[in-house]
Amino acid sequence: MSASARPTAPMPHDIRAMKGQTPIVSLTAYTTPMARNMDGVCDFALVGDSVGMVLHGLPSTLGVTLEMMILHGKAVARGLSRTMMVIDMPFGSYEEDPEQAFRNAAMLMRETGAGAVKLEGGQTMATTIAFLVARGIPVMAHVGLTPQSVNTLGGYRVQGRDAQAETVRADARAVAQAGAFAVVLEKIPQPLADTITAEVPIPTIGIGASAGCDGQILVVDDMLGLFDAFKPKFVKRYAELNTLARQAIQDYAEEVRARRFPTSDHVFAAEQPAAKGATQ
Ligand code: KIV
Repeated sequence: MSASARPTAPMPHDIRAMKGQTPIVSLTAYTTPMARNMDGVCDFALVGDSVGMVLHGLPSTLGVTLEMMILHGKAVARGLSRTMMVIDMPFGSYEEDPEQAFRNAAMLMRETGAGAVKLEGGQTMATTIAFLVARGIPVMAHVGLTPQSVNTLGGYRVQGRDAQAETVRADARAVAQAGAFAVVLEKIPQPLADTITAEVPIPTIGIGASAGCDGQILVVDDMLGLFDAFKPKFVKRYAELNTLARQAIQDYAEEVRARRFPTSDHVFAAEQPAAKGATQ
């Protein structure tokens, strides 16, 4: 069923059931207005920890806190009624042990109303994923390039080339086996993404992976051209909104300095106008 035809937001088991069916559509979201734009259009919206880089100007996702995720999660929840919300567990909030992960995942879901959490990691996170799922927390996994591990991966490079392919495959199998309802495949070679999609029983959500994945995700500010500091190869720009914003700000500044704004259209008369339709 397409998201627009659905009267309510899907649940994790609905997303799982889309494996091999209609491609799953998703974007990141960080604010209420942007969430409203994708409500009923995307199957799920991810409150990604990319919020740290995209909206807060951080150099990586490592500085993102639970408090930031809760703030943005609450904002996104206000904009969604027909699209499921998934929320990222930030760096340091789940890696210690399954109990720490449960405490923080439960808090994220309780405070924001998210339908599921996402966490990064494959085989090393399998025990934690199983622990969460057994206790009522739906988990979306994330393998391949895992940006929270940028310092140990040696940068934002393609993962799973050559002999490394077997590790990424084993990671995807491990998270599926542990009970994740879907898995994000980030920045891996296309043939590897296709192999994993064929061999795991849960939907694969690609970002820099393959059109053959069960679904796709992009960072919304990337695809709208709002975040244009750099453009990864896997991003397609569907608009250039930052160019428009910069131009609009220039135009405004020029008009203010030339006293061409505000005009009579934007100011108020001393007397109540008689005309019907006047607002004040
Ligand atoms: O935080 C994020 O935006 C993500 C997506 C890139 C999948 O994890």
